[in-house]
Amino acid sequence: SRILNLAVIPGDGIGQEVVAQGLKVLGAVLPQDVKLETKEYDFGARRYHATGETLTDADAEALKQHDAILLGAIGDPSVPSGVLERGFLLKLRFLFDHHVNLRPSKLLPGVATPLKGEPEIDFIVVREGTEGPYTGNGGSIRTGTPHEVATEVSVNTAFGVERVVRDAFARAQARPRKKLTLVHKNNVLSFAGHLWTNIFNKVAAEFPEVTTDYLHVDAATIFLVTDPERFDVIVTDNLFGDIITDLAAAVSGGIGVAASGNINPSREFPSMFEPVHGSAPDIAGQGKADPTATVLSVALLLRHLGYEAEAVRIEDAVSADLAERGTTARTTDEIGDALAGRVAG
Ligand code: IPM
Ligand code: MN
Repeated sequence: SRILNLAVIPGDGIGQEVVAQGLKVLGAVLPQDVKLETKEYDFGARRYHATGETLTDADAEALKQHDAILLGAIGDPSVPSGVLERGFLLKLRFLFDHHVNLRPSKLLPGVATPLKGEPEIDFIVVREGTEGPYTGNGGSIRTGTPHEVATEVSVNTAFGVERVVRDAFARAQARPRKKLTLVHKNNVLSFAGHLWTNIFNKVAAEFPEVTTDYLHVDAATIFLVTDPERFDVIVTDNLFGDIITDLAAAVSGGIGVAASGNINPSREFPSMFEPVHGSAPDIAGQGKADPTATVLSVALLLRHLGYEAEAVRIEDAVSADLAERGTTARTTDEIGDALAGRVAG
């Protein structure tokens, strides 16, 4: 029999509630011969307040022993902005080389969108996850004076860009429409922009079946609202990807259904799967949080580990549940039960 050895990080706020539902659905969908082993870790605001730690070297070593990581949400207003973001989430993305930040957007039947008409939205964003302006390569001089100078340098390596561009081409090649759009700002950010564009064009020659396209990031935000159907796969840098995936979530059902994977495709280190939403302290502990984004993140986790049929069962269950959801409010637990029932049935 096989073993799925999962690290579980419920984190802060609604993270606890939604992760419980994700595990419930995971338990229900796994075949009999797969033994699910989970170990829970207490990272987040409570641990930070108690010990001052966000993620120690020993923590990272422990996490490395797992096949994958399921994360709820990390963050609380009681912790200064940036401490947990840099000290936990980004640290883990860098340490485990999560260079493919995968964020699918699919508008499912029965789900409301602020867009006019009923657009068929079904695209994925491959956001670079380890470089760009996220590396902390910057500084400040004359700090706090009227002459303060702050720099925040975007790091773009040929190695880092090529591997994420290749990943995006392979994903585009595997989809029916086979279309890949590079999103950047190469008219202004010309150094990084030329690196991205040159590598994109070079790799494109190896994927003759994939149709390619380029958009400046500002224009991409317009098309995400006016013509989201034009997108199939988007590849972009860390910061542009951060911004456009929030917009993508907003037009395709909201953060209640937006899932993501922080993926290390080589599987050298475990990948981490998490809902795009945060810890939502305002509704924590009330059983109001929608666990759907976490459940869809579990599907991405299963697909990454090779459980394709199980991933599809979860996605089908979510589609069916959303189509029948209507306007009656259900608790976090009720939605989890409904989804677990559908995948088991
Ligand atoms: C995300 C978040 C993070 C990011 C923050 C919390 C560091 O916004 O996962 O999109 O900017 O990547
Ligand atoms: Mn974000």
